[in-house]
Amino acid sequence: MADSFQAPRGTRDILAPESERWRLLVQRFAEAAGQAGYAAVIPPMFEDLGVFERVGEATDVVRKEMFLLAEREGEARQALRPEQTASVCRIFAQHRPATPWKAWYAGSNFRYERPQKGRYRQFDQVGAEVLGTDDPDVDVEVIALAWRFYEQLGLRQVKLLVNSLGDGQGRADYTAALRRHFEDNVDALSAQSRETLQVNPLRVLDSKRPEDAEVVAAAPAMVEHLSDEDGEHFARVRAGLDALAIPYELSPRLVRGLASSTRTTFEFAAEALDAAQNAVGGGGRYDGLVADLGGPSVPGVGFALGVDRILLACDAEGVFAPPPSAVDVFVVCTVAGTDSLVLVDELRRAGLGADRAFDGRSMKSQMKAADRSGAKVAIIIGSQEQEAGVVAVRPLRVEGEQRSVARADAVRTVQGLLGTAG
Ligand code: HAM
Repeated sequence: MADSFQAPRGTRDILAPESERWRLLVQRFAEAAGQAGYAAVIPPMFEDLGVFERVGEATDVVRKEMFLLAEREGEARQALRPEQTASVCRIFAQHRPATPWKAWYAGSNFRYERPQKGRYRQFDQVGAEVLGTDDPDVDVEVIALAWRFYEQLGLRQVKLLVNSLGDGQGRADYTAALRRHFEDNVDALSAQSRETLQVNPLRVLDSKRPEDAEVVAAAPAMVEHLSDEDGEHFARVRAGLDALAIPYELSPRLVRGLASSTRTTFEFAAEALDAAQNAVGGGGRYDGLVADLGGPSVPGVGFALGVDRILLACDAEGVFAPPPSAVDVFVVCTVAGTDSLVLVDELRRAGLGADRAFDGRSMKSQMKAADRSGAKVAIIIGSQEQEAGVVAVRPLRVEGEQRSVARADAVRTVQGLLGTAG
């Protein structure tokens, strides 16, 4: 007996109608981003490991979750991308497009996670990045792009959390204060957080482990350590969000995956989902990343939204139903020959959605298939029609009676019935 295979752990096969909804979501995002002046960028699915390592040696993503490709002699070690911001920055460093460079992307990412609902080893994101400006209006623009996108999908229970991580000396002072706080309370921390503390105290704030909750809650907040310049930047971001009437919550302990994060950082939480996996998107500034990848010193800001989780949130809120995938017309043909092939081709070239049956099935079975297809109209070709050079046009889901029309008028008749003529 042949082996039987299943989708690998942590991956999912997405079939219709979910696959159609997925495609529509990406299309909507592409439209929204295009309308805001972003052009698509398509990074490779894998990069030299160094590209991802730069993003943050202290993050879980780099330390434990990378899908490494087999080592090949004489080549740099490579890994599947765990996210796309690093690739976008590498692309900028390599091609040096004019700034501000506004790019959007969509596609799969890979992280070796412990799979559960809303957390997968292969998952999709749509995202946008702006490189080459540190204008706080851009921070607001990217947040607004994501926010309006959720809104357009119909989501109403998304909460925006924002924080500023500062930069430079302010960030260094804060990290030192944080380290002192955690070291003073090290006995109360989980073993994992003690390990994280050695590498990056900021990341301890990210712990969702209950044992850490008390010490994390008592930790000093970055906003108290912002330099004047970073404080001013953050104030302008907040004023911009207010001006657009985008509600947000200040979240002083919000730090995110990228170790290179600076200044504005934000996350979108879907309140209709379980708290453990309710981040449906996140992003922020990373003003040193392009330079870390060998490019010029240009600031960047952007976000990525999790497609899998957004669709779970849509289910939970009962919005953004799968689009109907019906064709317009179904050709039922009981005579041998190429009549059906030719007519279907003609209908499709006229811009109509057209399908047909195969395998020379009976009239009854083909009519059932026509009904299942959701088509609004059936065109029937039997031996009588073939001899007379006509087809029978039968409305299935539009008003009207069945009628016989000349074969040459078939397409025009269907267009008339569907109101798509011209
Ligand atoms: P991230 O927070 O790692 O950020 O991922 C962004 C979103 O991707 C998450 O909010 C979540 O919706 C989704 N996501 C992440 N991991 C998984 C998973 N294992 N299964 C399902 N969904 C997942 C980034 O990736 C940064 N590149 C965001 C960014 C862009 N920062 C600046 N620019």
